[in-house]
Amino acid sequence: MRSSPQTVVSVIGTRPNFMKMAPVIRALADRPGDFQQVVVHTGQHYDRAMSEVFLEQLGVGVPDHMLGVGSASHATQTARVMQRLEPLLLELAPDLVLVPGDVNSTMAAALTAAKLDIPVGHVEAGLRSFDRTMPEEINRVVTDQLSSLLFTHSPEATGHLLREGCRASDIHLVGNTMIDTLVAMRERFEALDTAAAHGLRRGDYVVVTLHRPALVDGGLLRVALEQLEIVARTVPVIFPIHPRTRAAMAAGAISASHVLLADPLGYLEFLSLVASARAVLTDSGGIQEETTYLGIPCFTLRDNTERPITCSLGTNTLLGLDPMRIAKIPDLLERAQPSGQIPPLWDGHAARRLVDVLHDAVACLPCTPA
Ligand code: UD1
Repeated sequence: MRSSPQTVVSVIGTRPNFMKMAPVIRALADRPGDFQQVVVHTGQHYDRAMSEVFLEQLGVGVPDHMLGVGSASHATQTARVMQRLEPLLLELAPDLVLVPGDVNSTMAAALTAAKLDIPVGHVEAGLRSFDRTMPEEINRVVTDQLSSLLFTHSPEATGHLLREGCRASDIHLVGNTMIDTLVAMRERFEALDTAAAHGLRRGDYVVVTLHRPALVDGGLLRVALEQLEIVARTVPVIFPIHPRTRAAMAAGAISASHVLLADPLGYLEFLSLVASARAVLTDSGGIQEETTYLGIPCFTLRDNTERPITCSLGTNTLLGLDPMRIAKIPDLLERAQPSGQIPPLWDGHAARRLVDVLHDAVACLPCTPA
C-alpha cells in the first residue's frame, strides 16, 4: 500500500483540457492530506486567448511546470512532450499521472508515464468515433490502452472499453468533469452579455466554431463560409475563429462579409454567447456536450461523433461532413425536436467522484520501481 499524501501529476496542454481538468485540480487541492499535486502544462496551446485566459478564468492558476512544446507536426509535437516530460517524471516519481481528453499532449504524456512504469489515469476515457483518420481517435485508443484508471462520462464509453478488453475494475463511470466547470461557472457567464457586446440579440443568432483539419485544411472551409453567408441572410451568424482556421482563411483568401468574424473568446464569454444562442454549428467535441447541457440546438458538421449520447439524449444533430447542408439550418431549426434531456451524472459533481475513486485506487496500484 502507498502512504498518503499520494503525488499526482496532472498534465494539461490545450484549450479543451483546461475545462476538463480545472475541477479535478481543484478537488485534489481540497484534499492536501491525501494528495500532493503537480500541474504540468505542455504548451501545445500557447496564445493568451487559447491558454492563459482559460487558466485565469477557471482558477487553475499558474502551472508548476511549462514544457513550451508549441506547434509542430504530430510526430514532433508528441516527441517534444515526451522528451521534456520524461526527466520531470523521473525527478517527481509520482504515484499517478492524470491526463484528460484526446489531444496530442494527452497521448504523449500517457506514453511517457507508461514507459516509466508510472500508472496513468485517463479523464474522459472510452470515447470512440471509430474514425482513425481523426488524430484524436488514435490518441484516445492509445491513451486508454496505457491507462490503469479509466474515468468515463457515459455508459457508451464504458462499453467501448470493455469490448476492447479493459478490465471492468479499472473503469469508473464518474460523469462529465467539463460539465462540472460549466455548472461552477454558470452564474458568472450568465451575468455577462457577450451577445450584446457583439451587437446581437439574445436568442436570435447562430454561433459557429470550426477548426478540425478535415474541414479546415482543404476546400470545404470555403464552401462552409459561402453557406454561412446564406444563413446570415435569415439569422445573424457569429464565428469566433480558432487560430488554425484563421490561418487557413488567410492562406486561401477566404472571407465572409455578412458573418460576424471574431477572435477566440474566453471561457466565460463563449459560454455566455452559447447559452443565449438560437443554435450552434460546430465540429468541436466539447461543445456538443455543453449545448446538450444548456438545451441549445447543436448541429455538428462531421460524419460521426464520439459523443452519441448528445444525439440520443441531448440537443445534437449530426449534419455530416457536408458544408452544403449548413444553409438548411434555419429549416432544420423549425422542425427540430431535441429531447433536451441531460445525461446521468452530468451534474457538477464528477470531479469529486473521480477524486474519491483516485484516493482508494492509487493506494492499491502497483508501486513504481525506484
Ligand atoms: C488541438 C487538438 C484538437 C482540439 C483542439 C482544440 C490535437 C491532435 N488536436 O487542435 O483535438 O480539438 O486542439 O483547440 O491535439 N495555434 C496558434 N496558437 C495556439 C495554438 C495553436 O496559433 O495557441 C495554431 C498554430 O498555427 C498551430 C495550429 O493552430 O499549428 C494547430 O494547433 P494544434 O495544437 O496543432 O492543433 P489544434 O488544431 O489546436
